[in-house]
Amino acid sequence: MAGRLAGRRALVTGAGQGIGRAVALAFAAEGADVVAASRTAAKMEDLPALNPAIAPVALDVTDGAAVARAVAAAGPLDVLVNAAGWVHNGTLMDCTAEDWARSWDQNVTSMFHTIRAALPAMLARGHGSIVNVASVASSITGVPNRAAYGTTKAAVIGLTKAVARDVIASGVRCNALCPGTTRSPSLEARILAEPDPEEARRRFVARQPMGRLGTVEEMAAAAVYLACDDSAFMTGGLLVVDGGQTL
Ligand SMILES: NC(=O)c1ccc[n+]([C@@H]2O[C@H](COP(=O)([O-])OP(=O)(O)OC[C@H]3O[C@@H](n4cnc5c(N)ncnc54)[C@H](O)[C@@H]3O)[C@@H](O)[C@H]2O)c1
Repeated sequence: MAGRLAGRRALVTGAGQGIGRAVALAFAAEGADVVAASRTAAKMEDLPALNPAIAPVALDVTDGAAVARAVAAAGPLDVLVNAAGWVHNGTLMDCTAEDWARSWDQNVTSMFHTIRAALPAMLARGHGSIVNVASVASSITGVPNRAAYGTTKAAVIGLTKAVARDVIASGVRCNALCPGTTRSPSLEARILAEPDPEEARRRFVARQPMGRLGTVEEMAAAAVYLACDDSAFMTGGLLVVDGGQTL
């Protein structure tokens, strides 16, 4: 049976680890040709061996000119997944001007660059699906110590709706995936950086009504749904996958 993304070409940012990497693998398993983009090429070296439909490319998504070159080299895209992101851990008072600017650069301006680069070809071909990875820590809910992060992820939701509205009659869709706390290398690093990592791990799990964190594969499955025609009547939407964290 053909996969749900057979014949589709996708660019996935943040594919070096975590959710982006799982999305690249899930898309390739569904038949897509995938350009996997992340800052650090070494983290993606093994991807083509896992699935030859994945072509890694080193890319800093905050560099608009580099994004334009990478999107042009990738060829006309059917799917764009913006999964690259950065978490500043802290309240607004803990956040320096540099932390604030970096949060906007990595979480929002990165998507400004990738969408502006990919959208013209999608519009010209009359179809495309853009999936922006936001978070439940956003306009959906407030999470402790996520002031800059939550602000920028709320902006991702606004960006998603604005783009969706502007291209609504074109065949191009734009939706946001809003994960709850998901076990990923960066989450693990944040837990290990706490003074008492085991207590921190218990705290993360304790705010999950299901008693566990999400997995990157669960987020990738949701991204497949948003990318493929199963979600053809959905645009400007939020797909919350959080184990009931925000119930
Ligand atoms: N893990 C969670 O609990 C969680 C929850 C909600 C939302 N999210 C969002 O999901 C996305 C992925 O999160 P994760 O925890 O899997 O991430 P992660 O931090 O483990 O991996 C992110 C990847 O993006 C890459 N990246 C970061 N900045 C980049 C840049 N400027 N250019 C190119 N690549 C860059 C990193 O190198 C890394 O490979 C992020 O947008 C994050 O905000 C994660």
